[in-house]
Amino acid sequence: MNKDSDNSLPADLHLDTLAVRAGQRRSDEGEHSEALFLTSSYVFDSAADAAARFAGDSPGNVYSRYTNPTVRNFEERLAALEGAEQCVATASGMSAILSTCMALLKSGDHVICSRSVFGTTTGLFNRYMLKFGVEVSFVSLTDLSQWQQAVRPETKMLFLETPSNPLCEVADMAALAALASASNALLVVDNCFCTPALQKPLEMGADIVIHSATKYLDGQGRCVGGAVLGRGELMQELVIFLRTAGPTMSAFNAWVFLKGLETLRLRMEAHSRSALTMALWLQQQAQVEQVFYAGLPDHPGYELACSQQSAFGGVLSFKVRGGQAEAWRFIDATRIFSLTANLGDAKSTIVHPATTTHGRLTDAERAEAGITGNLIRIAVGLEHIDDLLADAQRGLEAL
Ligand SMILES: Cc1ncc(COP(=O)(O)O)c(C=O)c1O
Repeated sequence: MNKDSDNSLPADLHLDTLAVRAGQRRSDEGEHSEALFLTSSYVFDSAADAAARFAGDSPGNVYSRYTNPTVRNFEERLAALEGAEQCVATASGMSAILSTCMALLKSGDHVICSRSVFGTTTGLFNRYMLKFGVEVSFVSLTDLSQWQQAVRPETKMLFLETPSNPLCEVADMAALAALASASNALLVVDNCFCTPALQKPLEMGADIVIHSATKYLDGQGRCVGGAVLGRGELMQELVIFLRTAGPTMSAFNAWVFLKGLETLRLRMEAHSRSALTMALWLQQQAQVEQVFYAGLPDHPGYELACSQQSAFGGVLSFKVRGGQAEAWRFIDATRIFSLTANLGDAKSTIVHPATTTHGRLTDAERAEAGITGNLIRIAVGLEHIDDLLADAQRGLEAL
């Protein structure tokens, strides 16, 4: 066995080592860093070899909508981090969710989805899954009885994000995994906010993990991508869907994400440390009405988060005293925070959920989701925490 082959890695490596090493197979050039295979197709040794590869009788690449060595490197590395049998990389986080639904659901099936998921995920279920005969019931992320009551004989999937965006509610994954298994349904967890550096849903009984790689897996706001992870037999259905429908990850993006994974745990720890400091500081400010961060002992999800997560992540939200005008004044007075809806970047971001990420909801839906006009969401980046606190102070002074 070649020392440079991923197969030569010892067993039972730590996450930090897997994040740097897993999935790499060096080419004959002996490159140290991961190679970027920018090629749409592959050549065959002979007509017989081409026939064998097309028939699946001989291993090897055929076409990059099917397989690409750089994408495979990313898939194997992320699978190692999440503890998954297999990972399937996709063109975006949304195409990861779409592909999961298309591959594993059919007309007549029923999905139970947390009300506190990314708005576009809700739109995908309401606008498109419904159109193809898949019904969706929305329930409170944290109220187990609502999940139990929503189960029907046709229920095939339970879908959630934990912690939620922007209020950092925490789901009891073990309890929901037990419910899913008793109902012959799959538990699907979007692990975008924690990443495997802080939380491993598959170890808590989830069947499938989804990622928007666009966020913390990249970590520097460069590329759009996604991933689905789980048991081989489920992932095979995804592979077939991706080969047929085509929302695969580009090799270039896979290469960027691979380099992002190498620093994932260090970054997640730094994001979490600074976010906790920011949350505690905001709690002490007279102009701040309430802070939402699962790392605060008075947050309703604190105990659960401590049992499921190794740290609390980089996203927090808070309500300033007043309404939308005050929230906008705070946001406009900051000079370091980038005013953008993205998160998971080295650059701290700030956004007003009620008029941006949750702007399309009706007033009643927004009220039910707890997204008030005075709510601000921050995704704490990697700048020095003192500079970020000084920037938040600028926001407070504008109130
Ligand atoms: C939790 C979560 N899941 C999925 C997505 C969709 O990911 P993408 O933008 O990569 O399609 C997002 C995007 O913001 C998200 O926040």
